[in-house]
Amino acid sequence: MYRLAVDVGTCNTVAVVSRPGAAPRALLFDGSPVLPSAVFVDGYGTVHAGRDAERLMADDPARFEPFPKRRVDDGAVWLGDRAVPVAELLAGVLRRVAAEAALAGGAPDTVVFTAPVRWGTARRGVLRQAAAIAGFTAVTIVDEPVAAGWYCASVLGQRLDPGRLLVVFDFGGGTFDVTVVRTDPSGLTVLGAGGLDDLGGADIDAALASYLAPGVADRTLWTEVRAAKEMLSRTTVAPVRLPGGRSSHLTRDELQHVAGPLVERAVDETARVLGGLGVRPDQILLVGGTSRLPLVASRLHARFGVVPVVPEQPELPVAYGAVIGPVQAIQPVQPQPVPYQPAPQQPAQQYPAPQQPASVVIGPGVRIEGAVHIRGAGAMPDDDDDDDHEPVEPVRRERTVRPMRWIGRTVRQLVLIALPITIILIVNEPARTFVTNLFR
Ligand SMILES: Nc1ncnc2c1ncn2[C@@H]1O[C@H](COP(=O)(O)OP(=O)(O)OP(=O)(O)O)[C@@H](O)[C@H]1O
Ligand SMILES: [Mg+2]
Repeated sequence: MYRLAVDVGTCNTVAVVSRPGAAPRALLFDGSPVLPSAVFVDGYGTVHAGRDAERLMADDPARFEPFPKRRVDDGAVWLGDRAVPVAELLAGVLRRVAAEAALAGGAPDTVVFTAPVRWGTARRGVLRQAAAIAGFTAVTIVDEPVAAGWYCASVLGQRLDPGRLLVVFDFGGGTFDVTVVRTDPSGLTVLGAGGLDDLGGADIDAALASYLAPGVADRTLWTEVRAAKEMLSRTTVAPVRLPGGRSSHLTRDELQHVAGPLVERAVDETARVLGGLGVRPDQILLVGGTSRLPLVASRLHARFGVVPVVPEQPELPVAYGAVIGPVQAIQPVQPQPVPYQPAPQQPAQQYPAPQQPASVVIGPGVRIEGAVHIRGAGAMPDDDDDDDHEPVEPVRRERTVRPMRWIGRTVRQLVLIALPITIILIVNEPARTFVTNLFR
């Protein structure tokens, strides 16, 4: 049986395939096991995903959405001149996955998607819709931390004896999720979950950008600080090129100074969830790219006295766990057409300069939105009533005004009108006489 598991993340999407007799392996996208979840919608409405989208962004930033998963509640997103349903954006990413999976072994027999444990039926419905649009006709959705737990037991070989408590600390690009899982004879049981929807690597990037260049909203600066932040997991100093060509650098001390309070929020949230359940962790598994920050493991160890388990590539355990774990039931998906919504006439919305990491402008017309609320601990799947609300009106992106393009278009239109009139006056004597009499 050919099985595919897909973890659609805020920053990155990971897909792992498995076949009987062969070890599971991550699909490669342009040579990498992580596919950026970014999308770009071109003038024909085609959704480009991954690194292609990141390159196309330079052409027209207003058509670019770096984090479509963060828009899951928005219904549709304004990109350029059209409102595109979020399910279509996610389907653009999943089409890349489907193409790679087909090359790796044809059509999968089973497809498993993962979702944050706190996602309710509405958000999971958007994921199912995206899967259907991308051509996946039968999918199962499993909780991300449960999948990570399977990985911990099977791949890392960690002993999860019955009754022991595992904390899955998932610090990704857009969200922080913490889940307490207990090992039972029948499998893994989620005891409680919490998290912060406005806390992820992107928020650390935003804090670093405003630390280095306050008030500057620039996509390139964003890319620079992210690369520097990642480099600082290995080195003590990293160069940063600021807008305008100025050179600067970040030290690990500065990173700890800026990221420290954000990491502390994640650790506090973990303590809150554990405190609410009245338990102490036996093991802590670090998942998500932001867990690579050395500060994360050291703060957790200091707070809970448990040395966290750190996988080599913390972006991968969720998808790996989903492909090896038991799948209870396969629920067929009814593909549903998702029509484009007509563009309502409304004035361009002005976005404020970044005040706090939760809502950040990173370039002309490009905004990263983060929910600014904290979810309650102990919320279980489908308890989440926050995400079951009606999709909100699509948010219109600021459009870039280009004066040279406007002048060129006006001159072209004048020439198109004047040219035929001039030709008629030259070749047609009665017309010439008529016009001459008109002005006499
Ligand atoms: N060495 C590193 N040090 C610090 N942060 C890192 C490092 N490597 C990657 N990251 C960060 O990890 C984040 C991406 O992690 P990941 O792919 O796990 O997120 P995701 O699954 O897309 O997001 P989410 O789970 O929140 O939806 C990015 O913000 C990236 O900058
Ligand atoms: Mg993730």
